[in-house]
Amino acid sequence: MRIFVFLMHFVPWIASSSANVEKTIFLAPEAIEIPQDPPNLDNLHLKLLTPFQSTLRTQLAASFPQPNSPGTVSWFLLDELQPGQRHEVRICWLATQPTAFTLDTFPLAEVFSTPELITSLASYSESHEESLTRSRKEPASKTSSLLLLRIIAAADYYTSNRTLMQSVPPVNVDIILDPFLLNILPKSLLPTGLYLAVIAVVAWNLSSYIWQLVSAIALLESDKKQQ
Ligand SMILES: *[C@@H]1O[C@H](CO)[C@@H](O)[C@H](O)[C@H]1NC(C)=O
Repeated sequence: MRIFVFLMHFVPWIASSSANVEKTIFLAPEAIEIPQDPPNLDNLHLKLLTPFQSTLRTQLAASFPQPNSPGTVSWFLLDELQPGQRHEVRICWLATQPTAFTLDTFPLAEVFSTPELITSLASYSESHEESLTRSRKEPASKTSSLLLLRIIAAADYYTSNRTLMQSVPPVNVDIILDPFLLNILPKSLLPTGLYLAVIAVVAWNLSSYIWQLVSAIALLESDKKQQ
């Protein structure tokens, strides 16, 4: 139990200290029926993340936040999730491209019933029409647990360089979809977790050994004094 508490304490800290990371944690929804006849989800021209294709290296457009816009929005599709399982999506980027990212996931139904979200998705989809043509041969319909991922990228720097203040260069990012093992630990952190568990067990045993040693020496010393 102590080891578990120890892990819960330190694993997130290790994950977030290695790079600039922002993330969102969510439970995958129930699988729903997805029609494959056009127009279908492929027509949204979204890049795809699944548990089997879990890392995406890409460039995201960013902009300075304005009173009426928090930054530049990008949309992605998270597909083939395990219903009811906890997952996280992380975005990692270099400290040399200071950016504030906001990650949110939405069920399809919520996006299609919220005017603000569907407008944003439609305009992203239109502007990326040429960038991605996926030709998948799929059955007429399939059931899948999926979510739409929205990433807002806001430039987070100030520089005397005018070019950089007027147009924000695209940010190089890794986007990672990570299912949790037993809904506790992100899968990709398993090696780190095992390492910490081994250290914890060794430290635990070592400390009781040292304690016994110190007690024995103290006993010897007090015996000597009494003689
Ligand atoms: C401003 O930044 C741009 C893009 O990084 C660079 O090409 C340019 O040389 C910089 N200008 C100055 C004056 O430093």
